[in-house]
Formats: sequence, C-alpha cells, structure tokens
Amino acid sequence: MKRTTLRAGFAPLRLLGVAASALLLGAAATHGAELVGQQDSGKEIYGPCAACHGDQGQGSRRGEYPRLAGQRAAYIEDSLKKFRTRERLNLPMLPYTQERELSDVDIKLVSAYLADITLQTTFPDFKDTDDALTRLEAMEKVMIIPKLEGDLDNGKTLYKEACAYCHGQAGKGIGRFPMLVGQYTHYLQRQMDAYLNGERPHDMVADEEEAEEKLKAKPKGVGVLGRLTKQDIDDILAYITRLQD
Ligand code: HEC
Ligand code: HEC
Repeated sequence: MKRTTLRAGFAPLRLLGVAASALLLGAAATHGAELVGQQDSGKEIYGPCAACHGDQGQGSRRGEYPRLAGQRAAYIEDSLKKFRTRERLNLPMLPYTQERELSDVDIKLVSAYLADITLQTTFPDFKDTDDALTRLEAMEKVMIIPKLEGDLDNGKTLYKEACAYCHGQAGKGIGRFPMLVGQYTHYLQRQMDAYLNGERPHDMVADEEEAEEKLKAKPKGVGVLGRLTKQDIDDILAYITRLQD
C-alpha cells in the first residue's frame, strides 16, 4: 500500500515535469519563429547599403565598393563592429554604422543575409519567356573577376605558404578570416596598401600567443604582407583571380 501511495504522490510531479518541458518547448518554438521572422529583416537592414554595395551585395565600380555577397558572416560582423568603433576607418560608411547605430542583432542578421547570397561565375541561359527584370536580376548575380597576368607559379607557392592557413586553400576564408576569391582585385590591392601603410591591422588576431609574437615582430600589424615584395603581392593577386570556380 505504501508503495502505491508513493507512486501516486510521484505522478503529479512527473506530470508537472512534462507540462514544464511542454512549456519550454512552446517557448523554444515561439523563439524559433521570431528568429525566422527576423531573418527576413536582414534584407530590410541591408536596404540602405544596396546603394553602394549593389542589390545583390555584388559591390560596384570595380571595387570602390567591395563585394559582400558570399563573404563570411563572422568577418562581415567583425568589420561592421570595427567600423562602428572606428577601429577601421571608413568615411563613406560612418553615417550607416554610427547615426543609424546598427545594433549587434542587426549586424548579425545583415551579415547572415549577405553571407547566404551566392553569386555565379558563369552567365545564365535565358528562356524566351524571361522578362527584362528576371534577366537583370540574374545578371546582377553574375560576378566574374577579370584574370590578372603574373607569375602564377610564384603566386601559388606564396599563397599556399603564407596565406592559405588563414584564408583557406581555395581562398574562401575560414571562420572570421575573409574570403579573398571573387573579390575585386582593386579592392584587395587597396586593402593591402592600407595594411602596409599601417592604416589597418592585418593578421594579428589569429591566435593570442601567435599574435603576441607578431606584435613584437611587427608593431604596425603588417604581419606576413610586410615580408613580400610588390611583385610577390601582384603574383598572389594574379593567382587569386585563377581560383574562381
Ligand atoms: C555610401 C556608400 C556605402 C554605404 C551606404 C555602405 N557602405 Fe559598406 N563600404 C563602403 C566602402 C567605400 C567600403 C570599403 C572601405 C575601404 O576601402 O576600406 C565598404 C566596406 C564595407 C565592408 C567591408 C568589406 C570587406 O571585405 O572588408 C562591409 C562588411 C560593409 N561595407 C558593409 C556594409 C553594410 C552592411 C552597409 C549598410 C548598413 C554598408 N556597408 C553601407 C561604402 C558603403
Ligand atoms: C594569420 C592569419 C592571416 C594570414 C596568414 C593572412 N591573412 Fe589576410 N587577413 C587576415 C585577417 C584576420 C584579415 C581581416 C583583418 C581585419 O579585420 O581588418 C585579413 C584580411 C585580408 C585582406 C582584406 C580582405 C577584405 O575583404 O578587406 C587581404 C587582401 C588579405 N588579408 C590578404 C592576405 C594575403 C595576400 C596573405 C598572404 C600573403 C594573407 N592575407 C595572409 C588574416 C591573415
């Protein structure tokens, strides 16, 4: 008899447990729905950015405005935060990252939205029935970086030795290290000049200890780029233009 009583006493508790987890599940489901709803707003947040970076995040004017489509989300997030704190100075973007005060959530959403856009490296086959808008939108999603001449063997060797472990073998980036392939060559060149002039720190953020060592070796944060000649850098850029698939 005693045992039965115990069981009976236990049952409501278990029920309560079930009810509680159902509530939690309910809460999780609602939370999930909110996130899905918010994901759409990544596109809305991107609205004012499109004037410079293009409707599809394809950038423009041969790299005055960089491509953002398909860039790593963690890197876009990092860059936007650096623009906000002016750690990386970007005058054209100040009103967008300062006044409008992009919140951390906005930054996350817009970064995920952009990272998800895939740009093609081949021209689409149109059907006769495709209207002008469909064609225009499809063309905006095509991005082919002109191939650059250079010593491709030298570029390849140097890229693999000095860049690949952060930017990836295929140049698509790793974690918060940016994708370089498919980015405008002029833009990449300009960034490397900024690094070499000490205006933007390059590879110091890798691993804390490694970064310490690098900081000691190169106080300006030029890192690996400082050990290359201008010709080496041009060869690496030429190699990067061949990595597009
Ligand atoms: C008025 C033009 C303009 C607008 C609007 C603008 N940007 Fe930019 N953005 C630039 C320019 C120019 C650069 C390159 C700066 C440089 O050369 O360092 C840039 C760079 C970036 C980068 C760094 C890319 C990289 O590869 O390092 C990110 C990320 C970015 N913009 C995101 C955005 C987002 C998100 C918005 C909207 C909230 C936005 N931008 C609005 C002009 C603009
Ligand atoms: C130890 C890691 C590391 C190595 C090695 C490295 N990079 Fe980077 N690179 C970074 C990081 C981190 C950034 C982003 C820095 C920032 O946030 O401003 C970056 C950014 C860049 C950018 C700017 C991208 C953009 O969209 O603005 C270029 C160009 C670049 N690296 C070229 C190179 C080349 C070429 C090599 C090889 C010679 C190289 N990097 C090696 C870590 C590295």
